[in-house]
Amino acid sequence: ALALVAPPDLAGRHVVVSAGGTREPVDPVRFLGNRSSGKQGVALARRAAARGARVTLVAAHLQVAPPTGVEVVPVGTAEELRAAVRSAAADADAVVMAAAVADFRPVAPAAAKIKKDPAATAAPVIPLEQTVDVLAELVTDPPRPGQRVVGFAAETGDERGSVLEHGRAKARRKGADLLVLNAVGAGVGFGTDDNAVTLLDRAGEVVGTAAGSKDAVADAVWDAVVPLLREGPA
Ligand code: CTP
Ligand code: CA
Repeated sequence: ALALVAPPDLAGRHVVVSAGGTREPVDPVRFLGNRSSGKQGVALARRAAARGARVTLVAAHLQVAPPTGVEVVPVGTAEELRAAVRSAAADADAVVMAAAVADFRPVAPAAAKIKKDPAATAAPVIPLEQTVDVLAELVTDPPRPGQRVVGFAAETGDERGSVLEHGRAKARRKGADLLVLNAVGAGVGFGTDDNAVTLLDRAGEVVGTAAGSKDAVADAVWDAVVPLLREGPA
């Protein structure tokens, strides 16, 4: 494989990357999950380490091996991910939320397996509640003031707007320093080896684009983060 040139421009920095997809228990054998493989988050962790950072990877059900030389904190649910990210972020210069975090979880997971009633015609209804938005909370209540926060958004176009329109609205709503937008569907995004993204600032303005391997996209994200990092402790 082609070795990517790694400037040591993250030396002395601690960065936190969340990756993968959370799973919210329904009962002891079932969960609500998503299709995130964790590949892009793992690439972000790998490239940050190659560029000299100390890296904490908060890992939710990765389908790929984490890189060597990074600290891995395994998590299961959105709430576990929230606690691990906030704890690791207490001394971090940047936090990148590449994980697919559940938006909803069962209000009360069943203690025993939910059984079907062969005679019943109606299916059970499982009440859901919203999880805390970890990224939004990092912006409004940062564990370390002054640290940089990066979000991801996988969007599809629909009758209400294009991928870029949805992404720009989300960037403004979330208030992160950067939002990494990618179009999903048609073989790009989830589980694939390549990615194509648009980088948006907090105002929703396009500040860059990148396409290629997930490592190349990761380097483009760090290229955009490095100039935002402050000198010395925040
Ligand atoms: N995110 C988060 N906590 C959540 C949900 C999402 O931190 N409970 C983060 C993701 O890690 C990602 C960003 O928010 O960095 C955007 O996630 P996305 O699902 O695109 O946005 P939502 O605000 O959840 O909007 P929706 O799913 O309705 O499009
Ligand atoms: Ca969501």
